[in-house]
Amino acid sequence: NWKLDTEWIGRKIIFEEELDSTQLLAKALADQGAVHGTVVIADQQTSGKGTKGRSWYSPAGTGIWMSLIIRPEFGPREAAQLTLAAAVALTRVFRQNDIEAHIKWPNDIYLGGKKLAGILTEMQAEQDYIQHIVLGIGININQTVSEINPDIRNKATSLRIETNKEWKRQELIHLIWKEFENVYSLYIEKGFQEIRDEWMQYALRLGHRVKAATPSTVFEAVFRGIGEDGELILENDDGSTQRLYSAELEWKEE
Ligand code: BTN
Repeated sequence: NWKLDTEWIGRKIIFEEELDSTQLLAKALADQGAVHGTVVIADQQTSGKGTKGRSWYSPAGTGIWMSLIIRPEFGPREAAQLTLAAAVALTRVFRQNDIEAHIKWPNDIYLGGKKLAGILTEMQAEQDYIQHIVLGIGININQTVSEINPDIRNKATSLRIETNKEWKRQELIHLIWKEFENVYSLYIEKGFQEIRDEWMQYALRLGHRVKAATPSTVFEAVFRGIGEDGELILENDDGSTQRLYSAELEWKEE
């Protein structure tokens, strides 16, 4: 039972020891009319959701698993930009705490070459009107190596593993929502441009070769950044560029 020193995020906070998924509860509450800024937090999720239908391992006591209900003033086309803005906010908070986090396109937070945090946004929209967006953030905080899901131990990490100390989840939650408010205001007032520039400062692999996988093909190209909608810009070996709204990036560490 605690309050955040924020403007609009977390005026209402729902905290549960255990949920199937904060995302599912937030969506249900949003359907019932929950206000802009409502936050749902769980200590443990038994059915955490990742992007692309994957599951998100969310054991008790060790991570930040939370979802924010947003009733935005903008339309569906901007929703992808908002997810990138959230990645910028998270990266800012880590860097303010001397944690050299980076972003892997579109919005995975990486530390020490492994995934530290993920963001999942789900939108309920009718044509050009967004009823609500539920923005979910999952961050591995105090897991030891043995507490990371064995299936992903070679590609996932936690703050504790990378910094050799334990972190106070409550403080980080506060910092994250404060920073997200800053980034959100910047976005509403000035649009995506500045956030996009900042996103690129944090990006992994900018100017380097990546392997891009789409449902239909896998190919190599140079990662040139993101466009006005947050889409991936790749330069092919013949000099042409292509823009992708959905793809998986991979690369070999050099
Ligand atoms: C990803 O696949 O990278 C996105 C992971 C998002 C996980 C968070 S944890 C809080 C919220 N509730 C969920 O079920 N998923 C998101």
